[in-house]
Amino acid sequence: VITTTVKFMNRFSAKDLDLKSCLLIFDRKLKNQAETKKVIAKFPLRYGVDGGERLKNIKGFPEHAEHILKILHAHNQKDLKIVVLGGGSVGDFAGFFASVLKRGTDLVLIPTTWLAAIDSAHGGKNGLNAGGFKNQIGSFYQPQSVYLVRDILLNQPDELMLDACGELFKIALISGGSLWKKVRKHNTFSALELWSFLPLAIRSKYQIVRQDPLEKRGYRQILNFGHTFGHIIESQLGVTHGRAVGQGLVFATEWSLNSGFLGPKQYEGIAQCPFYVDFSTQLKSSLKKLSAHKVRAGLQMDKKKSQKDELIFILPIRPGLCIRHKVKVKQVEKFFELQKKSGPL
Ligand SMILES: NC(=O)c1ccc[n+]([C@@H]2O[C@H](COP(=O)([O-])OP(=O)(O)OC[C@H]3O[C@@H](n4cnc5c(N)ncnc54)[C@H](O)[C@@H]3O)[C@@H](O)[C@H]2O)c1
Ligand SMILES: [Zn+2]
Repeated sequence: VITTTVKFMNRFSAKDLDLKSCLLIFDRKLKNQAETKKVIAKFPLRYGVDGGERLKNIKGFPEHAEHILKILHAHNQKDLKIVVLGGGSVGDFAGFFASVLKRGTDLVLIPTTWLAAIDSAHGGKNGLNAGGFKNQIGSFYQPQSVYLVRDILLNQPDELMLDACGELFKIALISGGSLWKKVRKHNTFSALELWSFLPLAIRSKYQIVRQDPLEKRGYRQILNFGHTFGHIIESQLGVTHGRAVGQGLVFATEWSLNSGFLGPKQYEGIAQCPFYVDFSTQLKSSLKKLSAHKVRAGLQMDKKKSQKDELIFILPIRPGLCIRHKVKVKQVEKFFELQKKSGPL
């Protein structure tokens, strides 16, 4: 059962938190912004990290853990809560830390990027990277609350907005309905528009997560739409998560068309979306830089989730309906070669 409370607020308010028993883990970059600087200053106990994919490297984890424990021991903490202020990387790192600290310590997330606000702060997944592959070490650990603070989110640079759009387009295509109708016509949003989409996008994610919180029944795998190939682009080419997922969505959609799951008419409705056109151009350039060898290595790591030489691909049938489909690693490699030659669209 998921008991996370999602709170929307215009300004950060600490009235529901006993600040003395909280340890804030925050992205140091946020000290330079007026809005987040004020939030950081409210917490007497805090630990700053450099947000970004490197934070998720498992090699750095023991040292962080020791530093944090030193802070905690000096304060003899009771009823401790870990509060996290940062993007998805800080959430994944600190979420994992909270899940193993004293075998589980209460967690509150305050996402500061659109990607984290729309997606990564919800659903209880965390993960560290190991051996050059993403999220190999992690747990399911639901935050007690997620605070979505308008004035923090509105202060982000525009480039972070583009990062979130891969996951927004994903959840919109998976859920269909009014979210899809809103998202399909755009390839950019104003910050206030994104803020106004948050409740619907988040509700759509919880609807899926709630049916399969621990990904035991397979249903939650639908949220991995775009991620199998996306993770290869992300880890091999250093593309940011959201943009890599956007490209992964195109790869899976082209596959769906090619293998007859997605009809030409439905395909057209998706492929004409401005976001799709942009991701597709980005995918073209990524494919040029990827070798079959790297793709195979990436697929092998993902493969672990299924048996033998098979992995689960999420394929769109129409907006509002995606299916899980078993594919062979060899088939994906072959399709990669095909796409590399001819390219999507
Ligand atoms: N756990 C999940 O369910 C889940 C889901 C999706 C993505 N993720 C993970 O999330 C990560 C990507 O998320 P992200 O893009 O938020 O990561 P991030 O934390 O790396 O943030 C991106 C960059 O923005 C900076 N930043 C953060 N807040 C800012 C602000 N308000 N203003 C200016 N700069 C700011 C960070 O320092 C960083 O350089 C990936 O590691 C991905 O694997 C996890
Ligand atoms: Zn993702």
